[in-house]
Amino acid sequence: MLWSLLFITLIGRSTQQDPVTSSGCSPGWETIKLDDKVAFQSSDATNYYGVKYTADRALDGNYLTCSENLNDHISWWTVDLLGLYEISCITIYNINQSNIDLSGARILIGNSSERNAADTTECATINTKTSRENNTFNCENEPKWGRYVTVYKDTPGFVILCEVTMKGRKKEPFKLIKENKTWEDALYHCREEHMDLVSILDEETQGWVGLEAQKADTPFVWLGLQYICGFGFWIWVNDQCVFFDQWAPDETRTADCSTRAAMNKGGNHLWYKKSVYDKYNFICAV
Ligand SMILES: *[C@@H]1O[C@H](CO)[C@@H](O)[C@H](O)[C@H]1NC(C)=O
Ligand SMILES: *[C@@H]1O[C@H](CO)[C@@H](O)[C@H](O)[C@H]1NC(C)=O
Ligand SMILES: *[C@@H]1O[C@H](CO)[C@@H](O)[C@H](O)[C@H]1NC(C)=O
Ligand SMILES: *[C@@H]1O[C@H](CO)[C@@H](O)[C@H](O)[C@H]1NC(C)=O
Repeated sequence: MLWSLLFITLIGRSTQQDPVTSSGCSPGWETIKLDDKVAFQSSDATNYYGVKYTADRALDGNYLTCSENLNDHISWWTVDLLGLYEISCITIYNINQSNIDLSGARILIGNSSERNAADTTECATINTKTSRENNTFNCENEPKWGRYVTVYKDTPGFVILCEVTMKGRKKEPFKLIKENKTWEDALYHCREEHMDLVSILDEETQGWVGLEAQKADTPFVWLGLQYICGFGFWIWVNDQCVFFDQWAPDETRTADCSTRAAMNKGGNHLWYKKSVYDKYNFICAV
């Protein structure tokens, strides 16, 4: 009697489980906070009352307000996570509405807002209409790294998203330290607490460091770039020479002995020569 009851319970359980891919995210991943991130889409639809169905409505925590674009040739919706994330899965909820059908659309993860093929990879293809249910799509094979998550549809129809959530974890290769220190003290701090003061060897790193610099509360942030005055050249604290640079146009390459490089908090995050005695926030490689 007890055994047959247990048997029925087990059968009941297994038939309840959803056989399709929407059965949930693999365990162990945190929900990524999205309400402070920036979303945009191929175009904004507007209703009769002038309400715009903007991209951020998919992130507002309200499952009844949706983002919607016009019937574009290619429809897409993108969220900028404002940092590098390892993304495990994405969950999409939609209301039941006749024009909602995301089947065939692709979820892309990438490092450029233009979805350049070179730095964009596919997480999953959407295989259901996604109406009136939470559909979870796990990134195929393995979690994917990137800053932008895009729902991309190149077949006729709209991209309508009532709520998007995702799980993953932030990868922080660089960390802004919001303390005002001279260059030397900043260097000691980074070497003590983390790896080193940051060295920027390519454009991609410049981009990630720029994102951190934006959060600074000083107008500049220290970089690990110093002037070796006896020899008259700049060198990174990790001993690399300067092949990639982002000097402001009016900054000459020669300097005096008490000069180090700092990145502008705003604009294009150009580099400026600053006195070692100035006190700024700084960015450590972690
Ligand atoms: C969605 O709406 C249609 C038409 O109103 C209805 O036939 C269908 O059963 C609904 N689907 C769900 C999942 O509620
Ligand atoms: C995005 O950049 C990170 C860091 O360089 C890299 O690990 C990741 O593979 C890139 N993602 C894609 C989709 O190219
Ligand atoms: C979808 O997920 C949200 C958040 O977990 C939950 O509140 C809601 O009830 C779910 N909706 C359905 C139809 O499962
Ligand atoms: C650092 O300096 C800035 C202005 O230059 C100031 O707004 C900020 O409060 C200072 N931070 C600390 C931790 O003292």
